[in-house]
Amino acid sequence: MNSEPRSISELIAGYKPGHSLGQSFYTDPGVYELEVERIINRSWILAGHVSQLIEPGDFRVLNVGRESAIVVRSKDGGLKAFANVCRHRGSVVCTELEGRVDKFVCPYHGWMYDIDGKLVAARSMGDGFDMSAHSLKTVSVGEIHGLIFVCFSDNPPSIDGAIKDMREAMGMFDFENLKVVAQKSYPIPANWKLSIENYQECYHCATAHPEYAKLHTMMLDHDKRERVSRHMYERMGSCGIKDIEINCTANNTRPGEIGFSYWRTAMFNKYKTGSKNGEAVAPLLGDIKDYDGGHADLSFGAFSYLLAYNDHVVAYVFTPIDQGHTNCEVYWMVRGDAEEGQDYDLDELTWLWDVTTEADKKIIVNNSKGVHSKYYEPGPLSEMEDWASNFIEWIVAQLK
Ligand code: FES
Ligand SMILES: [Fe+2]
Repeated sequence: MNSEPRSISELIAGYKPGHSLGQSFYTDPGVYELEVERIINRSWILAGHVSQLIEPGDFRVLNVGRESAIVVRSKDGGLKAFANVCRHRGSVVCTELEGRVDKFVCPYHGWMYDIDGKLVAARSMGDGFDMSAHSLKTVSVGEIHGLIFVCFSDNPPSIDGAIKDMREAMGMFDFENLKVVAQKSYPIPANWKLSIENYQECYHCATAHPEYAKLHTMMLDHDKRERVSRHMYERMGSCGIKDIEINCTANNTRPGEIGFSYWRTAMFNKYKTGSKNGEAVAPLLGDIKDYDGGHADLSFGAFSYLLAYNDHVVAYVFTPIDQGHTNCEVYWMVRGDAEEGQDYDLDELTWLWDVTTEADKKIIVNNSKGVHSKYYEPGPLSEMEDWASNFIEWIVAQLK
């Protein structure tokens, strides 16, 4: 049975490498506060794709814990991000998650901001009121080959290394010219770490994901996966896919930089892409010439993960809502010139990762229930959970 550690340092001292985390890591409000300060508000988090912000005034809102950012295409064509907090008495300014506006109007007393965040109207504030001192506060925003990231730190990690080192890999899929054609939120009543730990391992895939496991090989152990990967390695070159592997994640992260990774994994022999039957669901991306029977996995920081198939990309973003709730946002992207109905069918495109995410949601909630029990005790991780183990170790290191 658990006995509550008295302090966070005691909790950390009690962490056993190679095991799941102690209960208080998921339940102690002090741990969450420290995570907000050391991890959540220091991380770049995927807020969308440039195809979603085309015209000046196009905006998207990213909510992370207590913070909310409005990302907007500005008058000069660049991207800007603002804290979604009115400079009058602090109301949320923008209550929609996306749209196009000329002005942002606070719903409380009607203060009005232009799309560059400048206060342009505020009634009855008297002659001495300085409008220019009450612009919306800026939030860090950056772009990595078409992917838009937000960070709630004024001194965010650099993304320059990721832009440079991921250029070749992301260029194959022409990430900059993809378009988002579907997006869905999956609220998960569980701690954000349980949600991400689950994403980081495929030990559960054979039991929880029959649809995914029919096509993908991630639930095989390393040696078996290498054997079934031969067909992919033989075909990659002729399909226009380069053999690239990048791992700057978890404890491999370069100091002061966002973590990032890219690698390729084979699917079972006859399958082309992540769909119901493994058949193509959209036009090939970028300069890819054919299906080599593999897909790529990408990650940026601790919260944003992508799967790039040869004909579409699925992005996963985990955002803490509070200590016990997480939002999993899933985006589906195809090549920018693909036409719905002619080149892809939305149901076919989204089917696999919708059923898989619904199943993940259930197992994460089950996990969370047990983790809250007085009988819960950290258990040993399998060798197939090495990425989850690295993630847990990284979390502990940030809290030290
Ligand atoms: S809080 Fe926004 S106008 Fe008053
Ligand atoms: Fe899963």
